[in-house]
Amino acid sequence: MLIDQHKRVHNYLRISLTDSCNFRCQYCMPDENIQCMPNSHLMNPDEIESLAKTFVELGVDKIRLTGGEPMVRKEFVDIIRRLAKLPVELTLTTNGVLVHKHIDLFKEVGIRSVNVSLDTLNPEVFHQITKRNQFQQVWDNILLLLKNDFRVKINVVAITGMIENELADFVKVTKDLPLHIRFIEFMPFAGNHWKTDQVLTARQMLELVEKEFDIVKLKDAPHDTAKKYKAVGHQGTFAFITTMSEHFCGDCNRMRLTADGKMKNCLFGKDEMDLLGTLRKGEPVVPLIEKSIYIKHAILGGQFTKDYNQADVDKIKNRSMIKIGG
Ligand code: GTP
Ligand code: 5AD
Ligand code: SF4
Repeated sequence: MLIDQHKRVHNYLRISLTDSCNFRCQYCMPDENIQCMPNSHLMNPDEIESLAKTFVELGVDKIRLTGGEPMVRKEFVDIIRRLAKLPVELTLTTNGVLVHKHIDLFKEVGIRSVNVSLDTLNPEVFHQITKRNQFQQVWDNILLLLKNDFRVKINVVAITGMIENELADFVKVTKDLPLHIRFIEFMPFAGNHWKTDQVLTARQMLELVEKEFDIVKLKDAPHDTAKKYKAVGHQGTFAFITTMSEHFCGDCNRMRLTADGKMKNCLFGKDEMDLLGTLRKGEPVVPLIEKSIYIKHAILGGQFTKDYNQADVDKIKNRSMIKIGG
């Protein structure tokens, strides 16, 4: 088992399949020099399978595929088929636009839940955010997932000036649809032009929602990134991911593998272990994985705390979100 110095057991691995995406959301990718990794730097399907097996032997029982957009990876189908054979809960986070092409595969291999990133319900705003005109396709795919009994969470990045008008609309869609909406406090990453005053905290959002709905707090699952609520009488739920205003590191069970095979022990951690390079040299990767867990910080990569300020955040030399996978 992978247990760190803070007694946290790590059983959840997030594997990024690519740093490419078919959308262009500014909060995720730096606007200058969008340069994808060359193919030779990416873990190939054999390498992904081999590293995933090693993690499973060390106690991982949940694997989430991320990107960029995981479905733009050429070998996506092959990778899914291989990972689905492992004794893990396999799932993915996607922008949703290609779901209709792969939903039969998801059903066939036993994927039960999909997290879809969707920051607005307004097609024009969707275009402003993503630089693409595919709101309808994403929405249709969300409905398609529901129709096929998938558990669907919608990730909404909450940026001040953009989200306030839509909070109520998002909660409203949970009335008749069993969707789980999660508002994510806007986080700083390399090149995403994050500013302190762009963070709308969970508390501020809750106050806005409470003006329009009767709500109840729901019990949160262990290791959940989100604090969950429900509007009375609604089928679905809504929740807040409070990285900035109230971190949830004390319960962290997550590790990350970037598309170029570097292990990150924290979303905000600078330390990267080159698992792929080590595997390619024919050397053992387990000592590196164990070391990565051993040196994991108690909170947020040790870089900033609840009292974060612009100066602390400016010091972050992390990858951009698209190169981490969220
Ligand atoms: P579930 O497995 O459904 O709970 O999803 P998840 O929240 O683990 O994954 P998802 O990819 O849907 O991520 C939703 C948001 O939570 C993204 O903005 C992630 O960056 C953020 N998130 C995921 N894991 C962590 C984490 O370990 N720490 C922090 N601070 N944020 C995280
Ligand atoms: N802050 C918060 N969430 C973010 N995501 C991407 N960039 C950010 C950010 N700067 C979300 C995406 C996706 C998830 C993996 O991370 O919307 O749903
Ligand atoms: Fe875990 Fe780091 Fe996220 Fe905290 S910020 S929950 S330690 S990955």
